[in-house]
Amino acid sequence: MSDARKAAGKSSLADIYSHLPDSPSEKTLEQVDYDARHWSSPVKGPLKPGTPEHKKAMADMFRDTFNPYKPSVIPWPELDPETLHRITSLPIWDIAVQTEGKARLRMAAYADMLEDPDVKDAIARNAWEENRHKEVLARMVEHYGIPLAPEDPYIEPRDTEWAYLVTGFSECWDSFFAFGLFSLAEKAGLFPMELIETFEPVMQEECRHILLFANWLAYHRAVMPLWRRPWFEMRVIGVLFFLLYERLSLVRSFDDDGVEHTQDNNFTVTGAQSMTDKQVDFVELMELCLKENERRFAGYDPRLLRPQMAPFAARMALGGVRLWRRLRGQKGAEARQAA
Ligand SMILES: [Fe+2]
Ligand SMILES: [Fe+2]
Repeated sequence: MSDARKAAGKSSLADIYSHLPDSPSEKTLEQVDYDARHWSSPVKGPLKPGTPEHKKAMADMFRDTFNPYKPSVIPWPELDPETLHRITSLPIWDIAVQTEGKARLRMAAYADMLEDPDVKDAIARNAWEENRHKEVLARMVEHYGIPLAPEDPYIEPRDTEWAYLVTGFSECWDSFFAFGLFSLAEKAGLFPMELIETFEPVMQEECRHILLFANWLAYHRAVMPLWRRPWFEMRVIGVLFFLLYERLSLVRSFDDDGVEHTQDNNFTVTGAQSMTDKQVDFVELMELCLKENERRFAGYDPRLLRPQMAPFAARMALGGVRLWRRLRGQKGAEARQAA
């Protein structure tokens, strides 16, 4: 602290930027929560990707919907032994912590190489929020004593664009199913409400992240010289195959005590049964994912693009399963008639 500030009886600058003068009122928190879920550009007319208006809307959306919650003040509820066991035995904690660790680094690396101040700000902020997710998880894991395998060192990506694409597309895929799973868990009541409420802003943040990614992707394609497009689209296809491969593989690692950790990369699709004690029906689950996906995006300017891949895949799968069930039902009815 400078002598002049000390002499004037003022606190240090670090004290000012690290402490709020008062605790936020309930209304403020409600307002913050509302603002994080609703945003519209004041610009009239279409927002065409590649235009300055679209780019500014994308960055403003991300900045204006920022939720300033602090992981350090989250109160972790006490859990009964059964709930504690249910949470600690989910095969996701290593992957969740490591995914956030990788995402923050990859997004920061991509933001670092950008020139455009708006896009740079949005993606750098996204990196900061991933770091905050990691902190939320770290605090939770510590509070409940969840054993983790040691994290491998996080290495700066060599191919920054590829790494950013992998992170962005996997967030789009995983978030779509996570929205449904989260709602399923909330309805089932197997987890305490305080815990659900703690992770609610994290879920909504992922919705903002994939909204940003979908619009960045459209912007990036629109401003890219035409001769680069074929190579870029090949890389996108490569990323999608890589994600498919990654989602189909289980990850095995060992902690300090030599205990094996088997983690499921595809938990957001396969983990539904861990969220509820009722039998999960595929059609109902996919319908829930689609409904939740729509609900989470509903408050944002409809001129901003939404991620399409996971909802499209879910609709296709739903159509296929419904058709199969109808055919099977018909066959069953014919067999009964014949008998
Ligand atoms: Fe995250
Ligand atoms: Fe994210």
